Amino acid sequence: MFSPFLLAATVVIALFMTMAESLCQSHYEYSTVTGYFLQDDPATDPADFDYTVSAFGLINQTYDTDAEFDPKHEKTQWERFARKLESLNAHAGRDTEFRLFYMGRHGEGFHNVAEQFYGTEAWDCYWSKLEGNDTVTWADAHLTETGKEQALLAHDTWAAQMKNHIPLPQIYYVSPLDRCLQTANLTFNGLPLPDNKAFKPVVKELLRETLGIHTCDRRSPTTHIITTYPSYTLEPNFAPTDPLWEPDLRESNSARTVRLRKLLDDIVASDGGKSTYVSLTAHSGAITSLLEVVGHRAFKLATGGVIPVLVRVVRKEGPGGGHGVVEPPEQAPECKEGVVGGAGMGMEVLRN
Ligand SMILES: *[C@@H]1O[C@H](CO)[C@@H](O)[C@H](O)[C@H]1NC(C)=O
Ligand SMILES: *[C@@H]1O[C@H](CO)[C@@H](O)[C@H](O)[C@H]1NC(C)=O
Ligand SMILES: *[C@@H]1O[C@H](CO)[C@@H](O)[C@H](O)[C@H]1NC(C)=O
Repeated sequence: MFSPFLLAATVVIALFMTMAESLCQSHYEYSTVTGYFLQDDPATDPADFDYTVSAFGLINQTYDTDAEFDPKHEKTQWERFARKLESLNAHAGRDTEFRLFYMGRHGEGFHNVAEQFYGTEAWDCYWSKLEGNDTVTWADAHLTETGKEQALLAHDTWAAQMKNHIPLPQIYYVSPLDRCLQTANLTFNGLPLPDNKAFKPVVKELLRETLGIHTCDRRSPTTHIITTYPSYTLEPNFAPTDPLWEPDLRESNSARTVRLRKLLDDIVASDGGKSTYVSLTAHSGAITSLLEVVGHRAFKLATGGVIPVLVRVVRKEGPGGGHGVVEPPEQAPECKEGVVGGAGMGMEVLRN
């Protein structure tokens, strides 16, 4: 039998524990600081914006910190920007910091070409579930030749901006999918980076694309990453095989945004404010979610595109949350009659 006293005591203790937990919990609130980059200006059209010819979008302007820092007008826009950001951080409250995230989308992968070739409807209902077709493989899609060129263009853009003293990433995070591992490699290897800002990326599981069903978004076993990219570091507790991807359920956009918020919280918490400049090499959907989390307007990147985002991070007491409804995952849509001509022509679905 239940003792009413024990029951009441249990309830009281549980209440106290919940309160204590939420008291020592804190969370981060993010917002985009606009006015420094063209991409957050509503007048900039993402469809025809070219980051390679516009210094990643850095707006030419003077800052209130220029007078003291650059009285003779000898510094570059990037140097003056870096001084301004340093000043923002120096004057921020104890629980506030400002960081610049360079978010890069991978170059074109074989799955991008295939989706265009078959059309999104047939891709989503049929082809995306296969490993590839008779001529190409798109499971954990690799970069096409065009994709490699796009990554090398990003490399050249960094090299050009380094001449203008762009502040270099102090830490590099990469999605574990091959197209991102390779894009980051082609982009940053071979740049004249100083030793204290060497390209030593950390592979982050949560930085990946929308999960499930599409084989292009299922990662290869960890042994592939270690042997192909031996200089990369895996984050702690990185699983030997893909722990997240499921063959018959696709993550919703809102669940993806919850996941990317968790990733950002982890990044911000883990280095205790040491890295003001952070590079992320990721995916269209992942970056869409990151922009949403930091309150940046939607800005669709072409394959290989890069967007810098200046973010204000405020640590607040309490558990946070309340970011809206999270939709459940969904099954692949049914193929409508006639959408997939010659169905069954694809490779067998191999599961590993
Ligand atoms: C800023 O000025 C430089 C040099 O005058 C120019 O090359 C660059 O395109 C300008 N950037 C923008 C965003 O207007
Ligand atoms: C496989 O897909 C590619 C596009 O990704 C296409 O160019 C090629 O023709 C397809 N192969 C076959 C056998 O249909
Ligand atoms: C990494 O980049 C270097 C320099 O661009 C290149 O030589 C090497 O083959 C790349 N490695 C991989 C695995 O892509």
